[in-house]
Amino acid sequence: MTDTTNEPVYVVDSLIAEDIDAYLDTHQHKTMLRFITCGSVDDGKSTLIGRLLYDSKMIFEDQLAALENDSKKVGTQAGGIDFALLVDGLAAEREQGITIDVAYRFFNTEKRKFIVADTPGHEQYTRNMVTGASTADLAVILIDARKGVLTQTRRHSFLAHLIGIRNLVLAVNKMDLVDYSQERFDQIVADYRAFATSIGIENFVAMPISGYMGDNITTLSDNTPWYRAPAYFGRSLIDHLETVEVDTTRDLARPFRMPVQWVNRPNLDFRGFAGQVATGSVRPGDEIRVLPSGKTSTVERIVTLDGDLDQAVAGQSVTLTFADEIDCSRGDVIALSDAPPQVADQFEASLVWMADTALIPGRAYWLKLGSQMVSATVHAPKYTINVNTMEHCAAKTLELNAIGVAEVTTDKPIVFEPYAENRQLGGFILIDKITNSTVGAGMLHFSLRRAQNVHWQALDVTREARAEQKHQKSALLWFTGLSGSGKSTIANLVEKKLHALGKHTFLLDGDNVRHGLNKDLGFTEADRIENIRRVGEVARLMTDAGLIVITAFISPFRAEREMVRSLMAEGEFNEVFIDTPLDVAEARDVKGLYKKARSGALKNFTGIDSPYEAPQNPEIHVDTTRMSAEDAAEMIVDRLLGHWMPEI
Ligand code: ADX
Repeated sequence: MTDTTNEPVYVVDSLIAEDIDAYLDTHQHKTMLRFITCGSVDDGKSTLIGRLLYDSKMIFEDQLAALENDSKKVGTQAGGIDFALLVDGLAAEREQGITIDVAYRFFNTEKRKFIVADTPGHEQYTRNMVTGASTADLAVILIDARKGVLTQTRRHSFLAHLIGIRNLVLAVNKMDLVDYSQERFDQIVADYRAFATSIGIENFVAMPISGYMGDNITTLSDNTPWYRAPAYFGRSLIDHLETVEVDTTRDLARPFRMPVQWVNRPNLDFRGFAGQVATGSVRPGDEIRVLPSGKTSTVERIVTLDGDLDQAVAGQSVTLTFADEIDCSRGDVIALSDAPPQVADQFEASLVWMADTALIPGRAYWLKLGSQMVSATVHAPKYTINVNTMEHCAAKTLELNAIGVAEVTTDKPIVFEPYAENRQLGGFILIDKITNSTVGAGMLHFSLRRAQNVHWQALDVTREARAEQKHQKSALLWFTGLSGSGKSTIANLVEKKLHALGKHTFLLDGDNVRHGLNKDLGFTEADRIENIRRVGEVARLMTDAGLIVITAFISPFRAEREMVRSLMAEGEFNEVFIDTPLDVAEARDVKGLYKKARSGALKNFTGIDSPYEAPQNPEIHVDTTRMSAEDAAEMIVDRLLGHWMPEI
């Protein structure tokens, strides 16, 4: 070990170096425990993980190194390095990997294999904890003995419980700094118990430890003789981790479900559906149902790299083949035919918000549930939860780290189960469509009955028939631009021209719609989003009626314009960017609103103190500094009729 800051530390036991086969053989049949350490920043998480690895001379490899197949860094005996250096090495390595949320460390003891989710400890990032916890069997909640139970302790405990981790260890750390005080320990455990009971945590084990000094990590410490008394748990952390029962029977006892990860089609004779069995078991000959389509067939083979199986159980990755050629693709779920999971598009869910920018109710996010990915909107929360008091609080949105309950609507039905019954089919994440970052995590409670009872009515007179009767094709010309950019003027001219050509049109204009349908809406971000959502839905209905619809709204946000695009049939949405620089629009100031906004009399004015996100690839770009309104209208009509509808 020369340079711990650049070179991560890797430790191997001697067996692996001598005889890899013997090593694999010894370790193959061990059970595996996945766990997470959580708590507040500075509570000694890195030290504890370092201590676990160091004291037990466990083997660990960083997952990244494993992925890179980087074996050259391996090769130091655990006992041979300094403990402090090891901890520094871990910290340095985690800092280098700051862009990854969670580093998974793998290690073994004589009795078990472990995966510990090691997360950067920054206070603000609940996200990391949630990511690490979603697959964990056990959580070690770390508390600094000097500080006691903190808000972060409560938040993480609540999340661990919500995420469904049933094995909790309360590790009261830094006992050396409180003179191994039994009284202090008892006090903290009592405080924690009061809180835990209030949120429905039935069981946890409490240990007085010192990650730094090594007390009660591998063996019981002489510094805490009182911990051996019958009133206490009385075992070391590693002893507990090695022996705690992991409840795998629960998943096995549930009905069979397997989300399809990919379709395996190496040649024309073979078509298999690959994935990991989430719950239950399946055998060849079982009647299955593919959801959401509901198509049924029989399992023919269960294929693995090691040959066919006569049964696959929860946790196994397999490829299934069916007796019939039925449609089944990535994102679908294969289930036993007589016990299928539910399919719905409206839910109640618990949500944990993980982004600096608050949730925007009504905005479309990507919702990823297993291999299913759909567009979804979250309604204003029913309530948020104060993690200190467990009180339900009224809230309009979810800020960073907030936990709340809200209704979620997806644009397509998804296959799901309540999270309490099935983590894989009930847990989801929300992704911002523009930045692609994960902004929230959620747990589905149940589907809303109204979603089950309102069905889309299939109409006999189709939208095509309606448009055909008018000798046209439906289309939407979506104007966007600053206030005073000339949207309404040009849109008006376009409509007049189309009308004169015998086309059936309708113009929806911001100022007008805001007098009627949307008169309850103002100009906050949330209201503008709702404004555009409603206009989008109305425009969609009008295109269903066979009309050429023209809309003139500032529509300042890219996300909502894209949301409307996704509502429309392919090619029907045409974004028309009325590009007028702010200074030009402001100089014109037709309605005198810019002047008001500059003076502070009008708040949230687009371009002044509210953003405008210009289109990046509009179908039509009108530069009003080079083109008259008349010419612009002419060009738009030409493009619409000549380019998109040449046949009519
Ligand atoms: S949008 O942002 O929600 O798309 P919309 O097009 O409906 O806006 O309404 C914009 C019109 O409302 C402007 O042309 C202007 O006349 C008026 N208005 C009043 N207050 C504001 C404001 N704060 N920001 C922008 N426009 C405003």
